[in-house]
Amino acid sequence: MKNSRRLTEGLHRLTREERLLRVQEFCNLSTQDVDVLSGKAQMPTSIAEHLIENVIGYFPIPMGVATNFNIDGRDLLIPMAVEETSIIAAASATAKWVGNEGSIRTYAKGNLIIGQVQLPQVKDAKAAHKVLHKERGMLMALANACVPGLVNRGGGVRDLVVRELPRPSGDGTMLVLHILCDPCDAMGANLINQVCEALKPRVEELTGERVGLCILSNLVDTKLVAAEVIIRNIDPVVGKGIQEATLFARADAYRAATHNKGVLNGIDPILIATGNDWRAVEAGIHAYAARSGKYQPVTDWYIDGGDLVGRIEIPMAVGIYGGVTRIHPTARVALKMLGITKAEDLARICAAVGLVQNLGALKALATVGIVKGHMQLHAANLAIAAGAEVHEIAQVRDRLAKVLLVEKSINLTHARQILESMRLAEHQGASVTF
Ligand code: MEV
Repeated sequence: MKNSRRLTEGLHRLTREERLLRVQEFCNLSTQDVDVLSGKAQMPTSIAEHLIENVIGYFPIPMGVATNFNIDGRDLLIPMAVEETSIIAAASATAKWVGNEGSIRTYAKGNLIIGQVQLPQVKDAKAAHKVLHKERGMLMALANACVPGLVNRGGGVRDLVVRELPRPSGDGTMLVLHILCDPCDAMGANLINQVCEALKPRVEELTGERVGLCILSNLVDTKLVAAEVIIRNIDPVVGKGIQEATLFARADAYRAATHNKGVLNGIDPILIATGNDWRAVEAGIHAYAARSGKYQPVTDWYIDGGDLVGRIEIPMAVGIYGGVTRIHPTARVALKMLGITKAEDLARICAAVGLVQNLGALKALATVGIVKGHMQLHAANLAIAAGAEVHEIAQVRDRLAKVLLVEKSINLTHARQILESMRLAEHQGASVTF
C-alpha cells in the first residue's frame, strides 16, 4: 500500500508522460492500454459508425485520474472524463483529507432492475390484477426464455409485481406490471426492454386489456448503493458549516438541486470514462431524491460526537459487461484501472466518489467559498479562451491568479488585457506587470 501511495503522490506536478507511466504501474496496464489513454491508439471510426447514426467526428473530453482514494480499504486511482476544471483537483484533495482523518465504506442494497409493462386504462382492474398475479410463474418463465444468455450467467427475472395507479386524468385505473430482473454485471437496459416487449402479447391475452408502453424504469430503487465517510475529530467550525449546508439543502429544493449537482460532479465523469449511461443514472438519482414528494439532497452530513459523518444512498444501474463498456477502448481501460470484476463494485465506487466530491464542495462553501479554488484553476481556461498560445498559457494563468487575489474575481476581459500587455511588452522587449 505504501508503494501504491508513492506512485500516485504529486501526479499533478508531473508531465503527462510521467503521469501515464505511474498510472500504468499502479493499475498494471499494458503498453496498448497506455496507447489508448494517451490517444495514440484512438477508437477506430469503424466502431464509432456502429455506435451512433450520422457520425461526423469525435468530441474529445479530457480524461484524468482522481488520486488519494482508499475505498473499503483499497487504494484506487479513479478515471474521470470531465471538462469542469476543478472536479478532479477537488476530489483528490478531499480524498486526501478523508484518507488522513477518516475512512470510506460502501454498501450495496439489492441487485434488481425494473421493467414496466403498462396497461393504460383497464376495464376491470381487479380481474386483470388477479390473473397477472396468478400467472406470475408462467410469465416469469416466458420472460427468462427470451434472455437465455443472462440466465446462463446466473441472472434473470426474479419477480413480478402488479401496481394499480389512478389515471391522473381522473378516468379510471392504469395497471403497471413490474418485472424485477437480476442483470448480473450488465446495466441491463436492452435485456429488460426485450423482456417487457416479449411479455406484451401474453399479458394482453391473459387480461383481455390493451398494453401500452413496455420499457425499463430508471428509478431503480431495487438496486441501491450506499457509502459512508467519517472524518474523525473534525474541526468544529468546519463540521458545523458542513452540517448546516445539508440542512439548507433539506429545507430548500433550489439548494438541493445544486447540492446534488455537486454529488453528480463525482459520479458522471466515472460513468462517462467507463462507457456507462450517465443520463439513466442521473434520471434515477433525481427521481430518488424526490421520492418523498419533496426534492431532497441525496447525501446527509452530521456531527456525531467529535466526528463528521456523511452518508449517501442512491439507485445505480451500471454495467461492466455488454453495451459500450466493452466496445469502447477507453472504457475498457478505465474499467481495468479500477481493477473491478463486478458491476456492483463500480456502483459502490461511484457512490463513494460522489459523496467525497460533495464533501469537498460543502467544505469549500462553508469555509473559504468556492470561487477561490475554482477560479484559480479556471484561469487557464480563460487564458486559452483569450487566445493564448501554448507557451503563453502558464504566464497568463499566473497573472490572472494575482488579479484574483486583489479583485476577488477574474473574467475573459482580464485575460485578454493580460495577454495583450504581455505581447506588447514582448514586442517592445520589456517585461510586464499587470
Ligand atoms: C459546481 O460544479 C458544484 C457546486 O455548486 C456544488 C455545491 O454547490 O454543492 C460547488
